Amino acid sequence: MLTLGIETSCDETAVALVEDGKLLCEKLATQIDVHALFGGVVPEIASREHLRVLPCLFQELLVETGILASDIDNVAVARGPGLLGSLLVGVSFAKGLSLATGATLIGVNHLWAHLLAPGLVEELAFPALGLLVSGGHTHTYLISSPIEFELLGRTLDDAAGEAFDKVAKLLNFPYPGGRFIDMLGHEAEPDTRLFPRPYIDNSSLDFSFSGLKTAVAQYVASHPELIFSEMADTDAIEALSSNERHNLATVCASFNWSVVETLKIKVERALQQTRRVKSLVIAGGVAANTRLRNTMQEFAVKKSLQLTLPELDLCTDNGAMVAYAGSLLIEAGYSHGLDIEAIPRGQV
Ligand code: KG4
Ligand code: ZN
Repeated sequence: MLTLGIETSCDETAVALVEDGKLLCEKLATQIDVHALFGGVVPEIASREHLRVLPCLFQELLVETGILASDIDNVAVARGPGLLGSLLVGVSFAKGLSLATGATLIGVNHLWAHLLAPGLVEELAFPALGLLVSGGHTHTYLISSPIEFELLGRTLDDAAGEAFDKVAKLLNFPYPGGRFIDMLGHEAEPDTRLFPRPYIDNSSLDFSFSGLKTAVAQYVASHPELIFSEMADTDAIEALSSNERHNLATVCASFNWSVVETLKIKVERALQQTRRVKSLVIAGGVAANTRLRNTMQEFAVKKSLQLTLPELDLCTDNGAMVAYAGSLLIEAGYSHGLDIEAIPRGQV
C-alpha cells in the first residue's frame, strides 16, 4: 500500500511516500528564513509559499522514485490544527490528486501524526502516554491504539515551543529560537531558583507557560547586558567573552530546566491518573531539545517505561508522519470524501 503524505499546516511544505509502514522518499521545503525576517510566521506569506512550492516538491518526489501519480493508493493530508490558509493549500492539492487518480483520501490530525511518527522506525507500545510539544501545542494524550487518542492535558496559554521562541526573541536570537536556547543552555548548569516551574501547585494536567515567559522578561529587563543589541547570528554568539557567554548560557539553561521539569511533573501526574501505560512517546519540535531528551530518558528508566523519541528530523513538521498516520487510519477502515474540510483549531 503506497501512501502519499502532504504537510502544509504551518511553515514547512512537505511530501513523502510511505509503503507498508516504511518511508520511501520525502521532500521538504522550510520557510523559516522567509518568516525569520518578520520574527514569526506570517500566515498570508505561508499560504502563498505552500502554493508555490507544493506542486514542485510532489513532482520531484515522483521523478526521484520513478513512481507515477497513478500508482499512489492513498493520499493523506494534515487537515489541522494549523493555519487555515496553509491547510487549505494541502487539502485542496490532496482533493485534486484523489479526484484525478482515484486514490483514497484521508485527512490526518497533525498532532496525532507527530506522536505516531516514531512508529516509522520502531514499534510503538500501546497504551502509551503521549507528550506533544510543538510551536503551537503542548498536549498530553492517553493513546490506546494508533487511532484512539484521549486528550488529558493541554496548555492554557503559550505552548512550550512558543515559550522557547518568545524567550529567544527577548534575548534577540533569530526565529525560531528554541534551538539557540538548547545549544547555549547546554553549556551551563541551570540556576534552579532563577525561574518558576509554572502552574504545578495544583492537581491539573494542564500547562501554562506565559508566566514563565514573563519571569524571564523581568529578569532580562533587570540584566540588559544579557541581550544582544541586534539580532544575534552564530558569529555574534561566538564573539561573546567567556563571561558574557556563561551568563547568557545560565539564563538559557535555567529557563530550559524550568520548562523541562514542568513537563516532567505533569507527565508523572498524568501517569498516576492513567493505568497500564506501557510507553511514553514524546514528539513535536521541542522533542528535539537536548535537556528534554536526557531528562525523559532518565525518567523513563526510573518508571520502567519504554521511551519513544523520534529521530531529530522526525521531530519537526514533515510529510512522512502524515503519510504514516494516514496509512494507519486507512488500515483501520477510515477514509474521507471530497467534502473534507481543513480544521484550523479544535478537535480534528
Ligand atoms: O512541531 P514543530 O516543528 O512545528 C509546529 O507544529 O509548531 O515545532 C516547532 C517548535 C518551535 O517553537 C521551535 O523553537 C521548537 O519547536 N524547537 C525547539 C528545538 N528545536 C525546535 N525548542 C527547544 N529546543 C530545540 N532544540
Ligand atoms: Zn507540528
